[in-house]
Amino acid sequence: MYYSDDLVEEVRTANDIVDVVSGYVRLTKKGSTYFGLCPFHSEKTPSFSVTPSKQMYYCFGCGAGGNAITFVMEYENLTFKEAMKLLADRAGIKLPEEEMSEEQKREAGLKAQLYEINRLAGTYYYHQMKQEHGRRAYEYFKKRELTDETIRKFGLGYSNPYSDDLYKYLKGKNYSDEVLKESGLVTISERGANDKFWNRAMFPIMDTNNRIIAFGGRVLGDGEPKYLNSPETRIFDKSRNLYGLNYAKTSRENYMLLCEGYMDVISMQQAGFTNAVASLGTAFTTQQANLLKRYTKQVVLTYDSDSAGTKAALRAIPILKSAGLSAKVLNLTPYKDPDEFIKARGTEAFRERIMNASNSFLFEIRVLSRNYNLNDPEQKTSFYQETAKKLLEFSEELERDNYTQAVSKEFDIPYESLKKLVNYYGGQAFVVQAVRDNDNAKPKEKLKNTKDEGIKKSQRLLLSWLIEEDRLYPAIKDIISAGDFTEKLYSDVAGKLFTQLETGKLNPAGILNDYINDDEEYREVAGIFNTSIDESQMSSTDFEKAVTETVRRVKKNSLDYASRNAKDIKQLQKIIGEQSKLNTLHISLQ
Ligand code: GTP
Ligand code: MN
Repeated sequence: MYYSDDLVEEVRTANDIVDVVSGYVRLTKKGSTYFGLCPFHSEKTPSFSVTPSKQMYYCFGCGAGGNAITFVMEYENLTFKEAMKLLADRAGIKLPEEEMSEEQKREAGLKAQLYEINRLAGTYYYHQMKQEHGRRAYEYFKKRELTDETIRKFGLGYSNPYSDDLYKYLKGKNYSDEVLKESGLVTISERGANDKFWNRAMFPIMDTNNRIIAFGGRVLGDGEPKYLNSPETRIFDKSRNLYGLNYAKTSRENYMLLCEGYMDVISMQQAGFTNAVASLGTAFTTQQANLLKRYTKQVVLTYDSDSAGTKAALRAIPILKSAGLSAKVLNLTPYKDPDEFIKARGTEAFRERIMNASNSFLFEIRVLSRNYNLNDPEQKTSFYQETAKKLLEFSEELERDNYTQAVSKEFDIPYESLKKLVNYYGGQAFVVQAVRDNDNAKPKEKLKNTKDEGIKKSQRLLLSWLIEEDRLYPAIKDIISAGDFTEKLYSDVAGKLFTQLETGKLNPAGILNDYINDDEEYREVAGIFNTSIDESQMSSTDFEKAVTETVRRVKKNSLDYASRNAKDIKQLQKIIGEQSKLNTLHISLQ
């Protein structure tokens, strides 16, 4: 069902944000803002704010933010449509009846059947394990020290050693061959039907709504392949799900543990680390990072300690960072994986390792250092050079300097020398970028992504200030336009916001409605409006400085971009003129 913009806005404005949030969180009024304990992360002092004038909420602790619709989406873990329904009911607004096309009805019907088939299969496998003939699987789980409670919680089971056992069971429930094929649990050919899983220990994979969407099956003992997974189906997209997230999402910890396998998640959760999830043998994806971001800001990687695990961690780190999550890496040595570690050393030792998890950047440098013999002067120099280049990933000077210090300390590199080297490569970065732009080599992406994060943040900050500080728009409107926001989504939002500001009808929560068709975009836009650092703590001169610096950065980035794409000398000269003006820019808010 597609709801018109007007209807979405009607539902939203009919639900005052303070009323809605008060239904879930105790709020206390302070000035024009309400404060309470954030429901999205655990805290002891209130940093969760609700501003009636903006009709938005924002947590200064964890950065969660949005309007009445996103609030119920996040809190109740609802889709946009479900949230609309809830809020419409709450305000007594009648939503138009769902009107699905024949195609949509078929699709919805098929999906519902697939969920039901997976659910039936899950219970079936569980029952088989409980029978005498399933004893092997039960004993296997026991040998791996799983309690009955854990086995039940994760719905573990057993697939019988017959070729069409599950198929017959499901046929008995009147499912057609066509639908059963779509479930991925059976294959059907001229020679008959075959179950996909066969004499294996079964691990149901659940989505965040606790529905079984697929299975993993492990051989009992040794054998190949060790794990077999359901193929992708209409309800199972493995790059968009994380094993264990249905439980981890309700954990009160403010970080998530990310590991490789089923057994790791299960043993960590059994040991009390209910915030453990796994990406299930596939490489960690951007979509998975975005999924995690709904529930946390920090991820502790607990990948296997072997070289494959290290490689996987190195791949996951930039993905997590681009999604805006901070990453740490837990050291499991001398054990292979979290499961083995916990069995050998116990819960407390594991907790200690979490506390001592290393910063992901230092982890990357440590791994890098293994490629060099630091006793050899030439190799040592190369290592310093690579390290200096990597330090340039930090676009904020202060942050870069902190890391330069940390690295120089750990590897015993004289701080001043390393800093000089960093500055040297920094000066060259422009040239490097130009060279890289010319060849389509892969590394380009990486340099660009991290730099982009800093710029994106400045653009978000500026948009966020524009709605909070009404003196800002008049002061910058002749300098910055929507086109200066190089991020497509931000430029879109800026265009809408500027129109509102121009006509004096500021309504940020309304802008959010335009992004209802895409959950990811919706959340991102909600984030944009709440990027602000707590400027109420700043003196007015500091705030002016911060604003000036941010405007300069956004404008500079836009001009740099324009100069790379300039069509002729005249255009370029104009851009250079504007670039030089930036040096003396000062925004006054008096
Ligand atoms: P255990 O031996 O049961 O403790 O497994 P593990 O979790 O230690 O497995 P491992 O580290 O070998 O692999 C990690 C994850 O990768 C597993 O949980 C699976 O999700 C996946 N995986 C491992 N082997 C295979 C395989 O042969 N095929 C597929 N598709 N996935 C696998
Ligand atoms: Mn293992």
